[in-house]
Amino acid sequence: MCGIIACAGVKDAARVLYGGLQDLEYRGYDSAGISVLSGGKIHTVKRAGRVGAIAQAAAGLGGSCGIGHTRWATHGRPSDANAHPHVCGRFSVVHNGIIENYAELKKELACMGCTFFSQTDSEVVPQLLERYYAEYNDLKQAVLSCVSRLKGAFALAILCEGEEGFVAVKYRNPIIVGTGGGAVYAASDMPALSGLAENVAVLKDGQIAFARGGKISFCDFEGAAASLTFSPLPAAAKSVRLGGFPHYMIKEINEIPAAVKNTAAAFEGEDVARTIARAAKKRGFTSVMMCGCGTAYHSALAAAYYGEELLGMPVRVETAGEFRYRKMAVGADTLFVAVSQSGETADTVEAARAAKQAGATVAAVTNVPYSALTGVADFVVPVRAGTEICVAATKSYCGQIAALAMFFAALKGAGEYRSVLSAVKGAEALCAQTISRTVAEDVARACASSSGVYFIGRGIDYPVALEGSLKLKEVSYVPGEGYPAGELKHGTIALIDSGTLAVAVITQCGLAEKTASAVEQICARGGRAAVVCAEGCAPAHLRERAEFLIEVPACKSCLSPLVSVIPLQLIAYRTAVILGRDPDKPRNLAKSVTVE
Ligand code: F6R
Repeated sequence: MCGIIACAGVKDAARVLYGGLQDLEYRGYDSAGISVLSGGKIHTVKRAGRVGAIAQAAAGLGGSCGIGHTRWATHGRPSDANAHPHVCGRFSVVHNGIIENYAELKKELACMGCTFFSQTDSEVVPQLLERYYAEYNDLKQAVLSCVSRLKGAFALAILCEGEEGFVAVKYRNPIIVGTGGGAVYAASDMPALSGLAENVAVLKDGQIAFARGGKISFCDFEGAAASLTFSPLPAAAKSVRLGGFPHYMIKEINEIPAAVKNTAAAFEGEDVARTIARAAKKRGFTSVMMCGCGTAYHSALAAAYYGEELLGMPVRVETAGEFRYRKMAVGADTLFVAVSQSGETADTVEAARAAKQAGATVAAVTNVPYSALTGVADFVVPVRAGTEICVAATKSYCGQIAALAMFFAALKGAGEYRSVLSAVKGAEALCAQTISRTVAEDVARACASSSGVYFIGRGIDYPVALEGSLKLKEVSYVPGEGYPAGELKHGTIALIDSGTLAVAVITQCGLAEKTASAVEQICARGGRAAVVCAEGCAPAHLRERAEFLIEVPACKSCLSPLVSVIPLQLIAYRTAVILGRDPDKPRNLAKSVTVE
């Protein structure tokens, strides 16, 4: 949710910043902008639209230091004026987050004669900096005074005329700093630093970095010196390119087998299992509470079916945004499991914080080992899906299903753990088979021409139906819903007519007849039906009734969601392409939702 980057001590700051913004574009693509310091003056270009919109104007800017931004609009529509950087006097600022008290600060500054040029919350920052700099004539003091006035969440990069370098500030949104080749960098995420920084460090909440003359120093919000440990930029944090695929979405679907394989590898050996079992034993918990948002919520929902049956104790699941504002019974006897691809989603991180404050043991199931969520958690359950660029989550969902199955198995004991680990290893080939055999085109054409698509499933197939529906909506904008198969007849069936399509997921043979009768009811009302089912599961009458049938390999029930979701992802992808949408950057979305 907004990507920021800064550099100092480079030959062509505009070129470096522009390259970094391309890697950060997944965080928001409503507008882009760059400020550089050259000849002692700040020069800024910014435009509504994607990063490419500033390519030409940025090319000639040069400079040896600068800051850049790619925006996901929160306050103020996407426009040139609302694009970052925001400039006031000698300062230029880029911001990721939300300044919650911006309205009162704006009023105060306006009363002092300040003029605002945007509708953003962020513009109060350069205005405050300019005011405090005029008062103290000292950059550090101006920054400290400014941040002491801000409430909310803010990662900032600041450029100041007359001060060669930049300042980076971190509070609740990420900033990673890096050094290499005599230059200093800061960015919202590591891949933007790949090819630039050799060593990196993650700023903690309440820390400020001052990059000056090829060196970097740190202090806290009180001004006391702080020290950070740098380590080599992880090999996994590399900048990712399409590599011959037309879109990241299809590239990442093709990477599902590797995501499953690498996640299994992270659980090989006893370390992860031992950590999980030890945490469980120490606290002797009596219930599990799981939280996540969007796709991560769906993977938690799916995993809970297995977890509850296996452990014989309540496993509740709630969206992180709801959990935070609901008085749920969570305490020292609760194991709290926060699921998040990015580890950055504000609602999930805050839910984990709240659970920890309530005394729960917190496990972070995440694809990003250095994320904010891992900082909050007592221990990490690794997902190794690799960098996911497409805004729609695909391979990370499959990695989460694999990791959560192994997590619950580890809680149960060594025998179950060995059996699930071996099933996960086997799932790599099943995923590869599903990707190569699925023909999604006909169903995608039906989706593209439907007025609504209803995804249905029972038991563990229900969360998969939810995920299939979310994927289709977000990348193709075709309306629809995910529904428990048995619930359809209690209201939603009123929407079924010849313009609607139902997609049924059937991987649990014991429930096949039940879901099949929902399909019969849909067809009886003129609706069209597609069925994604595990081999050997579809009753004969369903084969006749369904217009489309996609078979997937059968596998251990707790892993079936990671196989059965693949045709749904492919259907969503093809529908988006047929309708001429950009599946990688759907409208109104951003990959990391770092605002509440
Ligand atoms: C959907 C999607 C989102 C994310 C959600 C949580 O395709 O990508 O629904 O799943 O925003 O993000 P993470 O997992 O990073 O917490």
